[in-house]
Amino acid sequence: MPLVIAVANQKGGCGKTTLSMNLAGVLGSEGGMKVLLIDADPQASAQHWAMRAGEPGLPFEVMTHPHEDVHRKIREMAAKGYDVILIDCPPGASQVVGGKDSQTSISRMAILAADLVIVPVRPSMLDYLASHQLLPLLKDVAALKEKQKVFIVVNGKPPGKTRTGAEALSVAEEIFRIDGVDVQVLPSQVTTRQAFVLSPTVGMTVTGYEPDGKAAAEIRSLAEEIAKCLQTNVVV
Ligand SMILES: Nc1ncnc2c1ncn2[C@@H]1O[C@H](COP(=O)(O)OP(=O)(O)O)[C@@H](O)[C@H]1O
Ligand SMILES: [Mg+2]
Repeated sequence: MPLVIAVANQKGGCGKTTLSMNLAGVLGSEGGMKVLLIDADPQASAQHWAMRAGEPGLPFEVMTHPHEDVHRKIREMAAKGYDVILIDCPPGASQVVGGKDSQTSISRMAILAADLVIVPVRPSMLDYLASHQLLPLLKDVAALKEKQKVFIVVNGKPPGKTRTGAEALSVAEEIFRIDGVDVQVLPSQVTTRQAFVLSPTVGMTVTGYEPDGKAAAEIRSLAEEIAKCLQTNVVV
């Protein structure tokens, strides 16, 4: 069975799509894995990004399924030989105007189906507090799925050695501590970089766009850290 990773957060704009697409890119191209990304956000940013890809295309597949039964779609796709399925979730808080699916429910069902939940957060106290709203849901799920892991990834730290970067991890560790949920703030941080903004315009991920760049190196070390954490606590 594939490893199922939900990339989720209550907040929009924290980097869910950026991290899920780039992680899929590095796992597919350099990890040699068969990777599927399910775009579960009605905004369909990942799908639009993928549609801009020229030849030879992205090193992973993208499909859209912005519906509450995303867990069924995951189960169906899990039987098709993928090593990893990533779910790019919608922001969790609001209802889709005119739609039948609540975005909260989509995220909830994706989280329920996942082995690992990655929560990207911007390195700011206010963003941490907003993201913190996801924790009661994670606690509920943890009661059912003891082996589920939650990784907090700081995304969008300023370049260079800054106070923001240095403090981001310790403050995040303090805020995201929650009884009964296996939450780890990953040491790898992702910096604000042009390559993250420019690569989607040409339908690429940073490892294809600038393989020797700093953005690619950060995504690579994030993927390695995820693999390391998972190896020591196998969830699949
Ligand atoms: N590390 C980063 N460096 C530069 N821009 C980033 C970074 N992460 C995200 N962005 C930009 O921030 C915006 C929101 O990111 P996105 O991945 O769409 O967030 P979400 O999916 O959580 O709404 C996008 O314009 C994206 O290009
Ligand atoms: Mg998004």
